[in-house]
Order: sequence, then structure tokens, then C-alpha cells
Amino acid sequence: MSGPTKKPNLRRVGQPQPIQADALLGALPHPLLVIGEGLTIVYANTAAEDFFQMSAGVLCRRSLTDMVAFGSPLIALVEQVQRNGTTVNEYAVDLGSFRFEAPKLVDLYGGPVSEMPGRVLIMLQQRSMAQMIERQLTHRGAARSVSGLAAVLAHEIKNPLSGIRGAAQLLEAERTDSDRTLTQLICAESDRICKLVDRMEIFGDERPLQREPVNIHDVLDHVKQIALTGFARQIKFVENYDPSLPPVPGSRDKLIQVFLNLVKNAAEAIGEERADGQITLTTSFRPGVRLSVPGSQARVSLPLEIAVEDNGAGVPTDLMPHLFDPFITTKPSGTGLGLALVAKIIGDHGGIIECDSRPRFTVFRALMPMAESEASQGRQA
Ligand SMILES: Nc1ncnc2c1ncn2[C@@H]1O[C@H](COP(=O)(O)OP(=O)(O)OP(=O)(O)O)[C@@H](O)[C@H]1O
Ligand SMILES: [Mg+2]
Repeated sequence: MSGPTKKPNLRRVGQPQPIQADALLGALPHPLLVIGEGLTIVYANTAAEDFFQMSAGVLCRRSLTDMVAFGSPLIALVEQVQRNGTTVNEYAVDLGSFRFEAPKLVDLYGGPVSEMPGRVLIMLQQRSMAQMIERQLTHRGAARSVSGLAAVLAHEIKNPLSGIRGAAQLLEAERTDSDRTLTQLICAESDRICKLVDRMEIFGDERPLQREPVNIHDVLDHVKQIALTGFARQIKFVENYDPSLPPVPGSRDKLIQVFLNLVKNAAEAIGEERADGQITLTTSFRPGVRLSVPGSQARVSLPLEIAVEDNGAGVPTDLMPHLFDPFITTKPSGTGLGLALVAKIIGDHGGIIECDSRPRFTVFRALMPMAESEASQGRQA
């Protein structure tokens, strides 16, 4: 081991030492590009050289369209920033380039450069495939661990419970008012346990999914109606639908369950006292999103994205790694089965669910496959 090294002075009092912008940007671990008119690349940092496996000199003579496939979400993002002059973020997009053997899944951040009109700064943050697959598998594992237990509970609890409830009802008829309060309590509590067991029973349902083409906008509208007449009366709903989204192959009832759970959580995170609560329902078609299937060369395409966003308190950071596990709850009367159920149903549909959250912004995104017939009918998935 060498002894302590003297750190170089970055700034001397009264004489600020110029810091080379290039050196700073070169040290940044994320690829950074500046795009000029005609989509030409005018700047690339060291991480971008590594990412595209090309020197900055060569990169800067090229157009972005040479680097990524036609229709890549990256080009759409740059054009959007140029058009609107605002910052745009996109998550988990596949750059769709012929230059990469494996899919490059990235989060994209784009924004205008105020001192250089017409130029757009792009930062790419690479997502590891492992990160997405691991999450997907964890959700499925978690759901599976409940399923055996659920089957046992259904038999062993529901039957005696209905006996208890029936007996309480018989007693109720011939008792005084104060006794009646107690028998009603027995009935109400039995119903509560029964509901919990019903919910868990769904995990034990290993039957293959009956699929039909489901219009997801109908599903979301239905969920919104339920929410607005009940638990989300005070909340504003914003719809951001891609009207050309193809149908989702799946079970309408189960998908309603999924989005009802997500919207209910969103409403609960906003709380009843907030006046500016807002839930945004978004659907979009993202042909770029692909996932490797563990243990095989196959890649599944998950181009249908359905997102539920809220401006509530946000998911507590320590909860994040366990969010989709069963029995995880921060609510006094929550079962903590809502998101585990969501993960199971989405998994049964061949999709994945993920969450991004910070205070006043939480989004749950379900990425789903589209029907094979649709995919072969010209829609590129
Ligand atoms: N949109 C959200 N914003 C903030 N936190 C959330 C959100 N959705 C879920 N959570 C957190 O995740 C936990 C688990 O959610 P889940 O739906 O699984 O159970 P629950 O809502 O607590 O109970 P139940 O669904 O049975 O009513 C919640 O208790 C909450 O802390
Ligand atoms: Mg819930």
C-alpha cells in the first residue's frame, strides 16, 4: 500500500482554477451526446465512445440515424425535444440498433441546451438486462410461495368460518340488542377473513389463462368509473391513451383486477385530504422493449405499456426491494397482497411490472406482449 497521496488543489482562493468541461464530461460514466441540426452528432463523451464503440471523431461526422435503427425511440425523443424545447425522459427503451448484438435497454434523458439553440443534449443510462429479469422472476417466485399456502387456507379456514358465521346468525335472532352487536361483530370479522382467503385463493389458481383480445382502454375506463364512484372521488384522472394500441391478449377480469389494485394504491398514496391529487393513465406502443428469456436465446417483445402514475407520497425507499412481495404493507388495514397479485397476473400474461417512485411521483408500468397474429400483421414488435 502506498502512503496517503496529496490531493491536487481544485481551487485556490482568489484564483479559480479552470476546470476542463471535457475532462468532467469524460469522467461521467453515462454516454452523453449533443445533437445538432439534421440529427448530426456534434459532441460525444468517452462513455458514448465506449457505448457505440466508435471514436468521438468518427461519431461526430455521423448522423444519429446512422447509429440507431429507423424508428428508434432515441430519434423520436430528440425530435420531441427540438419541437417542444422541453426536457423528455423515457425509461427502459431498446435503442434498436444493428450495431449491438444484444438489445441495449436504456433510460433516456433529453433536453435543450439553452446556450446553443437547436441543440439537444442526450444522456443514456444503461439498464442491465439482469435487473429487469431478476425483478420479473422475483415477482413470480413471491407469488408462487403464497400459492401452496393459499390452497390449504381455502379448505381449512373457509369451511369452519362459514360454520361460525352461520351460528352467529342463528344466535342473533333470539338475543338482546347488546348481544346482537357482538354477533354482528362475529359476522363482520368472519367476512373479513373470508375476503382475505378469497384473495389468497387467486394465487393458488394455476389454471392456464383464458385469453381473448382485450381492449385495455375499456379496462382502464371501467376501473376509472369504479374509482370515481368510490375510493377516488376527489381525485382528478388524466388519460394519455395511444388510440392505436392493439388489444392485449389476456383475461379482461384479471386485467381489471390489476389496474383496480394499482389505481386504489395510487388513490391511497394521494390520501383523502389532498385537493390536487392526480392519477394519470397512459398507454403506449413501444416496439423497442425486449427481454431475454433466462436459459434460452429467445427474446420476448413487450411492446404494450400501460402505466398508472400518481402524485402521492411515493413508495418508502426501504420498501422498494420488497414491493411486490406478499404481505408487505404500510397500511393499518392493508393485506399487502395487492401488488403480489398484480405481479402474478401480469406474469401469467407473459408481461412484467415495474415501479419508479420519488415523493409526489410514482409510476407502475406494466409491459405486456401483443397477440402473435397482431405482430405478424405488420405491426413490428
Ligand atoms: N402508488 C403508490 N404510492 C406509494 N406507495 C405505494 C403505492 N402502491 C403501493 N405502495 C406501497 O406498497 C405497499 C404494498 O401495496 P399492496 O397493494 O401490495 O398492499 P396494500 O395496498 O398495503 O394492501 P391492500 O392492497 O391489501 O389494500 C403499500 O402498503 C404502500 O406502502
Ligand atoms: Mg393495495
